[in-house]
Amino acid sequence: MTEDLKRLAGEAAIAHVRDGMTVGLGTGSTAAHAIRKLAAVVRERGWTIRGVPTSIATERLAASLGLPLATLDEVDSVDVAIDGADEVDPKRNLIKGAGGAHLREKLVARAAAKVVIAVDASKLVPVLGTKAPVPVEVHPFGWRQTKNALEALWCTATLRTADGDPFWTDNGNYILDCKFGPIPKPEKLEREINNVPGVLENGLFVGLAHVVVVAGPEGLRTMP
Ligand code: A5P
Repeated sequence: MTEDLKRLAGEAAIAHVRDGMTVGLGTGSTAAHAIRKLAAVVRERGWTIRGVPTSIATERLAASLGLPLATLDEVDSVDVAIDGADEVDPKRNLIKGAGGAHLREKLVARAAAKVVIAVDASKLVPVLGTKAPVPVEVHPFGWRQTKNALEALWCTATLRTADGDPFWTDNGNYILDCKFGPIPKPEKLEREINNVPGVLENGLFVGLAHVVVVAGPEGLRTMP
């Protein structure tokens, strides 16, 4: 059921792409649905687009589908970025990074003229932090000091692991999942987290999403 809704939202997000565009390609299962749909549309209509992937997994998926790709440094601008999210508040602020790709996702989103986020309705929350922790990418050197400094901002920080070992991001760093509980001022916390030495980027995306496509049991709707 959730996967069907993710597919519905991800595929609908492709309506924001036009022939000739440079498209930021997000990471995660919803973004993967969008990328598969985009590849099908490009094939059917003979479009020329360029994708800018936000992770190695997305790069592999998009390449396997025959989408032409470029790095963020190879393009002057990104017309539209399509991505998923872990939480969305009523102002379209987001928590991202459950897949560990939020550093590259934020860079691509900031470069994009339009950011389209696709989610199933379970991702909507009244206030960020209701369900999801804030993922924080940190340099492995001295990460315990970084963890202590983050916890001094009133969270519980947990080193993300995979099969018992630390989870490594595509950028060669660790992730600390920081449980803050409800976050009334996400723009303030986003700055405070990034001020901690050792932090590379956090998963709060404030004021970045222009459109959120939501798929629920009652169908599709858009938060403009
Ligand atoms: C990747 O790091 C994340 O930001 C994903 O975009 C986010 O976790 C949403 O993933 P799903 O679409 O798989 O739920």
